Amino acid sequence: MSNLSTPNSLPNCGIQCTPMTPAIGAELSNINLAEPLSDAATAFIRQALLDWKVIFFRDQQLDTEQLMNVARSFGKLSLHPFLSGKPDTPEVLAISRNRERRGGENIWHSDVTFIPNPPLGSLLYSHEIPPIGGDTLFADMVAAYEGLSDEVKQKIEGRQAIHDFRAHRVLMRKAGVDEEKIAGYEAKFPPTAHPVVRTHPETKRKLLNVSVAFTEYIIGMDRAESDALLQHLYAQASIPEYQVRFKWTKNCLTFWDNRATQHYAVSDYWPAVRTMERVTIEGDIPC
Ligand code: OGA
Ligand code: MN
Repeated sequence: MSNLSTPNSLPNCGIQCTPMTPAIGAELSNINLAEPLSDAATAFIRQALLDWKVIFFRDQQLDTEQLMNVARSFGKLSLHPFLSGKPDTPEVLAISRNRERRGGENIWHSDVTFIPNPPLGSLLYSHEIPPIGGDTLFADMVAAYEGLSDEVKQKIEGRQAIHDFRAHRVLMRKAGVDEEKIAGYEAKFPPTAHPVVRTHPETKRKLLNVSVAFTEYIIGMDRAESDALLQHLYAQASIPEYQVRFKWTKNCLTFWDNRATQHYAVSDYWPAVRTMERVTIEGDIPC
């Protein structure tokens, strides 16, 4: 596979890049992210992200400020449409799962695709992880697109689909958020259209841009046909050949390209505790 060679073409900055599957996921080592990143290290990490779509750094001691600094090297930080961040750093989501709050991200999705410009990526840092369980799976949506039959590729070429925050709405209702507040979010974040097949803005690769969590229907297609086609497209994320499954340890940083991947957080550890911090980078409008 062509991406096995990169980012060796970049100036050597000492970072080791160890692929985890032929298609997706690499572990980067021999780098301390608590220190300011050199230009060479930043370029290497960015290229590794583009090549491997999700990258992992183990044994990093990062406070919230350092986590934000790492993220800022790769773009502008963004606020989540509904989830409140930490009081002094609203760009940082504290994600805590425990006896009272079971993990709810166990559905295949790219983050926040229900806005016009979904995130470029997110950086998720582990503070406390369960003794067993709590893995995260990532799926390569370039491979998922390339694996489609020519007939399906033809059917979806040039199509747009509507995305909506349905999955969040379900969670909000479960958490007792009042209907007036939900209606406010609906007014602020109305359903939005995105291409079913997106061209990655940096790698120029075509990729599948629909998810079971946030996609509603394909515009201009009979609803039954759209439903059947979307079920087929959603199922692509579940194919093991397109996936990497990450086993967290404490103080890991995971950085995913939200444009090129979907993820699924396995919710198998209740009532154990899992505590993470997430910072998200603004993306552009898919085309
Ligand atoms: C997220 C998410 C994955 C995880 O932060 O967007 O889906 O493993 N989390 O917690
Ligand atoms: Mn997510």
